[in-house]
Amino acid sequence: MQTLEHHDTIRAVAWTDGALRLLDQRRLPFVETWLDCRSADEVAIAIRDLVVRGAPAIGIAAAWGVVLAARQNADLDAAIARLRAARPTAVNLMWALDRMRARIAAGADTAALEREAQSIQDEDLAANRRMGELGAALIAAGSSVLTHCNTGSLATAGFGTALGVIRAGFAAGKIAQVYAGETRPWLQGARLTMWELLRDGIPAKLIADSAASHLMKSGAVQWVIVGADRIAANGDTANKIGTYQLAIAARHHGVKFMVVAPSSTVDMQTATGDGIDIELRDPAELFAVGGQRTVVEGAQAWNPVFDVTPHELIDAIVTERGAIERPDRARLRAVFGA
Ligand code: MRU
Repeated sequence: MQTLEHHDTIRAVAWTDGALRLLDQRRLPFVETWLDCRSADEVAIAIRDLVVRGAPAIGIAAAWGVVLAARQNADLDAAIARLRAARPTAVNLMWALDRMRARIAAGADTAALEREAQSIQDEDLAANRRMGELGAALIAAGSSVLTHCNTGSLATAGFGTALGVIRAGFAAGKIAQVYAGETRPWLQGARLTMWELLRDGIPAKLIADSAASHLMKSGAVQWVIVGADRIAANGDTANKIGTYQLAIAARHHGVKFMVVAPSSTVDMQTATGDGIDIELRDPAELFAVGGQRTVVEGAQAWNPVFDVTPHELIDAIVTERGAIERPDRARLRAVFGA
């Protein structure tokens, strides 16, 4: 067993007076290189191009983008609009920008905006630690779990959401084995989650995304644990493409399904998952693996990068405010208001 501190060594988003330093997630796990953003537009491009990704991390990066715009006396409304347009699905981006906009409207100067961005970052780290405890408490000792995409330190201020529960669960002796899906086409699971788990010494096995149902049928996992990009008011949850089919398979095989996300991912203004804008990315992401073309020239593709899991398939939504079991509209409203 290891301490939680041992499990929290990566920081992908770092403010270094005057620049936002981002660990370039396009190049992991083999190249660890940092990109310095010096304007809000550079941050927006980094978010769009997945230098920084993961719902909480893009919200934090965008908040620092507003600080960069303020330091340059740029048009803040225009900067916020461009940051907001960088990606559509993760509501943490809009939430962080709305928070910065509210401070601007209240007359905040650049120093106050810097403090607000730092608070957004610090609060996310604290939320992840709390969710780790709450989520791990739901898991029986000796369990094995399957996760999808990357929800770790790379995707957040640190520690992670679903991966934070896995870190806390492993440290507490609850989790014996982790399985990570590759997460085609961008391979967040293969490239990023496996990197984080191996650094932490957590027993991890990579599976092809298409092996998940077979894994569940074998009885090898007791929980599927995933993050979220947006949770609608009724608990319907948008997350990385492939999450929905994991939830269907989990219910079929009697495997529990846990969503872990900070309250900044909860969107009470969107009634159901049908109202969530699902990002479509360049079909070319499907035409190559590791830069090597695998598909015949002239082929077409459809590349939605998120899907929506209906709340009926979710056993628990864990936020820093508590665990909501069998989530629905009434149970979310009791925690998050109207
Ligand atoms: O396209 P990405 O890599 O930004 O998608 C990330 C996910 O879907 C994560 O599961 C989600 O943002 C939660 S991260 C704590």
